[in-house]
Amino acid sequence: MAKGIINIAIDGPAGSGKSTLASALAKKYGLIYIDTGALYRTVGLYIQRKGLDCGDTAGIIASLPEIEITMRLENGKGIVLLGGVPVGDEIRTPRSSMYASEVSKIPEVRDFLLELQRGIARENSTVMDGRDIGTVILPKADVKLFLTAGTEKRAHRRYLELKEKGQETSYDEVLADMLKRDENDSGRKIAPAVPADDAVFLDNSELDAEGTLAAACRIIDGVLGK
Ligand code: DC
Repeated sequence: MAKGIINIAIDGPAGSGKSTLASALAKKYGLIYIDTGALYRTVGLYIQRKGLDCGDTAGIIASLPEIEITMRLENGKGIVLLGGVPVGDEIRTPRSSMYASEVSKIPEVRDFLLELQRGIARENSTVMDGRDIGTVILPKADVKLFLTAGTEKRAHRRYLELKEKGQETSYDEVLADMLKRDENDSGRKIAPAVPADDAVFLDNSELDAEGTLAAACRIIDGVLGK
């Protein structure tokens, strides 16, 4: 790791507010925000575009050498490019979420994305969010947070987010998807979404974005000795 580099890992389940918190922390501490879920979503998008089923493990593994995923760091954020083209909101649909969750269970897919994530954190001060940042990607991160909230709270937040983006969906559908993804992401054998031993838990069920940021800053400043 280059001198003076700081890495903050934020893990936690879908809808716990990781990306909202991570982008606010990036601004506050002058770090680069890396949304690692976007990488799995982009692999899922490629697989969708190719017309493969998300359960077609052999087909997905065989496709990996064709997939060119890179990240461009811009305005304090990592932008994901697929074949040199930035991906947009098409990686945020409920179908894309499920594809991402399914492809992320495959060890070869996780290996495929590992060095890209580590390389960025080696060269840049980052706040990286995902499921296995504190456990696998950056086991030596300076601060590790595990963000969580009650299932219905998380489903409600995700529902409002999708509605705001104009996507057709119902709360029940979002809740069902979330339960399925929780089971997939935390129950899988490889890199499950579990807190690292040295992660600090933050339950934000009763906090808004500002309250979550304030609580996270208290933890971070405490750990970094500020
Ligand atoms: O954070 P997200 O909801 O955008 O992530 C999409 C999927 O990718 C999620 O269901 C699990 C997977 N993921 C993962 O396995 N490891 C990560 N570090 C980030 C995401």
